[in-house]
Amino acid sequence: MREFLIKNGYHFFSQTDTEVIPNLIHYYYTKETLEDNKFLRAVQAAVHDLKGSYAIEVISSLCPDKMVVVRKDSPLVIGKGSNENFIASDIPAILSYTKDFYLLDDYEYAVITKEQVQFFDSTLKEHQKSTKNIEWDATAAEKNGYADYMLKEIHEQPTAILETIGSRLKLEEKTHFEDLTITSAYLQTLSKICIVACGTAMHAGLVGKDAIEKLCQIPVEVNIASEFRYCNPIIGEKTLCIYISQSGETADTLAALKLAKEKGAKTLAISNVVGSSITREADYTIYTHAGPEIAVASTKAYTSQVILLNILAIYFAELLGSYDSAKLEELKADILSLPSKIENVLHEKTQIEEIAKKIYTEHDMYFIGRGTDYHVAMEGSLKLKEISYIHSEAYAAGELKHGTIALIENGITVVGVLTNPVLTPKTISNLQEVVSRGAKTLIVTNQNLRNTNFDFTISIPKVNNLVSPILSVIPLQLLAYYISKNKGLDVDKPRNLAKSVTVE
Ligand code: F6R
Repeated sequence: MREFLIKNGYHFFSQTDTEVIPNLIHYYYTKETLEDNKFLRAVQAAVHDLKGSYAIEVISSLCPDKMVVVRKDSPLVIGKGSNENFIASDIPAILSYTKDFYLLDDYEYAVITKEQVQFFDSTLKEHQKSTKNIEWDATAAEKNGYADYMLKEIHEQPTAILETIGSRLKLEEKTHFEDLTITSAYLQTLSKICIVACGTAMHAGLVGKDAIEKLCQIPVEVNIASEFRYCNPIIGEKTLCIYISQSGETADTLAALKLAKEKGAKTLAISNVVGSSITREADYTIYTHAGPEIAVASTKAYTSQVILLNILAIYFAELLGSYDSAKLEELKADILSLPSKIENVLHEKTQIEEIAKKIYTEHDMYFIGRGTDYHVAMEGSLKLKEISYIHSEAYAAGELKHGTIALIENGITVVGVLTNPVLTPKTISNLQEVVSRGAKTLIVTNQNLRNTNFDFTISIPKVNNLVSPILSVIPLQLLAYYISKNKGLDVDKPRNLAKSVTVE
């Protein structure tokens, strides 16, 4: 396209793809003979030539009072104001101006002026569209006295979880989801469930797998979306694919969802953003309702996803009658006790702040655990590396001696997560191996550990193992936060990362 435009007299000043677009629009604009809607028709002609994903806003001195927007697989929202309208890539960006949003479909065009927004399909046939009211409070997207969004969002976890639970889960009542029409007959046809997501959302999926497999006896695979979309997965009518995405806009997750639909699998989206792309593509959607998450490092979205997956597992188990109902009631009681238990963990933050002061200069850290604790270790390790830039890895504790233990020496900190009474003695013996090789040890546990020689121990309340990640992850989030602060880094906007990964 660049070559074509250069041959036609256009000059380029950068290497970005984006620069092609205005030149191409200008090219078509000068070719248009009809005056009516010339600007829009030139944009449409240019968009017709584009491949890939994009969200485009076109403004021009030739039509100073209007802008044209169009998207394909990338987020773009239009905020409706009074005598003013807005566009943004994300709802929180304009939440202080309006709560009424138009959500644009792929290849749908909007022509926006101060007074109105007109919509056109890909053939430029005009149509009407109604707004969606977003209930988020504008102050929810502010720091409210906290030093950083991440710290605020860590502290919002008790209320975020309450919102996620909502009226879905109550003691001695059947769990229910509004708008989820999955039946017991359908669940009985399933040969497996695939959970697909990226990063932290994928880590939440790993915890969800434990819950669904235990309560429903349906095999669950957890897949990284960028792998799933290219591995020709064995899925079809007998597979339910669950997609987890805070933003609902992650390019790989969205592409993996479209693939499952093509292969005939039913799709269920778990997202925090109402009307986001994955929710519009999926057969079913359930929302985490955690409120806007601004910090790049995900905290409250993770815990809300873990809770929602547990509630979903209980809902499926009740439909299938696959788990002892008294034990399900105990699990429900544990889930309902979580908000106050999270408050208790948050009260211990000064202890974690002090530990961070002692270890923030380190270069390597390892996180270990077994079972669900291993999945939390993965999340703790990701949190640390993304905001503190300390090299860190998570291992299933039993794997350490199959290679990685060669790296353990003086000056390295190993974080152990110990919440499962059956697996705790095993992980303790792995930790003793690293202690004897000179590593410092930091333990997050809900067990009474006697006669141990660990350097730091953070105690958390006891709770059912399926939801223990909600409590054990919080000290790890705070540890990453305080280490990053000690290093003087920008906690909310770590280098090289974006909140929504809308490219593959
Ligand atoms: C890490 C983090 C990322 C996201 C991942 C998926 O703290 O936030 O790993 O979890 O990019 O994002 P969503 O959930 O928006 O699909």
